Amino acid sequence: MLHSPVLLEESVKFLIQNINGTYIDCTFGRGGHSNLILDKISKKASLYSYDRDPEAVHYASSIKNNNFKIFHDSFSNISSYHKEQSVDGIIYDLGTCSTHLDNAERGFSFNKDGPLDMRFDNSNGITVSDWINKAGKKEIMDVLYTFGDENHGKLISEAIISHREKYLIDTTSKLAKIIEEIYPDKKTKIHPATKSFQAFRIFINNELDEFKKSLQSAKKIIKTNGIIVTIAFHSLEDNIIKNFFKPSIKSFPKDIPLNNEQESFFDCIAKKVRPSDFEIKNNPRSRSAIMRVFKKL
Ligand SMILES: C[S@@+](CC[C@H](N)C(=O)[O-])C[C@H]1O[C@@H](n2cnc3c(N)ncnc32)[C@H](O)[C@@H]1O
Repeated sequence: MLHSPVLLEESVKFLIQNINGTYIDCTFGRGGHSNLILDKISKKASLYSYDRDPEAVHYASSIKNNNFKIFHDSFSNISSYHKEQSVDGIIYDLGTCSTHLDNAERGFSFNKDGPLDMRFDNSNGITVSDWINKAGKKEIMDVLYTFGDENHGKLISEAIISHREKYLIDTTSKLAKIIEEIYPDKKTKIHPATKSFQAFRIFINNELDEFKKSLQSAKKIIKTNGIIVTIAFHSLEDNIIKNFFKPSIKSFPKDIPLNNEQESFFDCIAKKVRPSDFEIKNNPRSRSAIMRVFKKL
């Protein structure tokens, strides 16, 4: 298996409430969720999947099904392709695919030596190497703190700046070694570069802003009674989900006028669903997953 889909049966069961409906898989990856959705929906239904990664889109071309269409675009743009209130269900399975981490050439993993890239869309934009060889010390520190919760951001950014005065930082192993050498907590359970690599990945792909924009779009195009399923792997993603849906409270006092933000209501129909012990044992990457499911009222 190229990528083991997380919370597969559970998420698709929540998502499909109408077998003749229109569905969006915002994060195609290697099609784990998309393929199961296609198995469950009728010939009258449609599935539109999105991925920023050209390799994922190329992989999707192997799916021969008239109900299916893949878009090479960011999920922040879904409202440009779908009319208001036209979609029955939308699913997000956030983060990286195993195929990103396993392929050294994509530069996502500190365990595999490759070009320091980390872009989901490697046909566009700047790589981590382009950025890290030019960025200021404070900028690097801020990224490490904001997206990696890294307490040693100052030390790491100083080490990066001093290293690049003599050498280009252009591979994953060069960056991992710089961090490893200066990292004060030598007995840390995780690799010293774990948080930094995560922070640089989230930053270079603008992941959190793209996701916030996408939720705004999803809110426009989802039908009444439509379902939004989110699977998050990081507290920063999960906080965005909670903050986005929180104001959409169900029982708002009738005598208080609603502002635009509160016009659209959702009910949370599944709160903080985690993978089973069995799934975690078989796919350790699933251990940090949190699924939430919302229904448009
Ligand atoms: C965890 S994987 C999805 C795995 C998929 N559900 C499966 O079972 O094969 C996340 C995917 O989302 C894609 N992605 C990340 N940010 C994106 C964005 N803003 N728009 C579209 N796709 C994005 C990544 O390229 C990656 O392929």
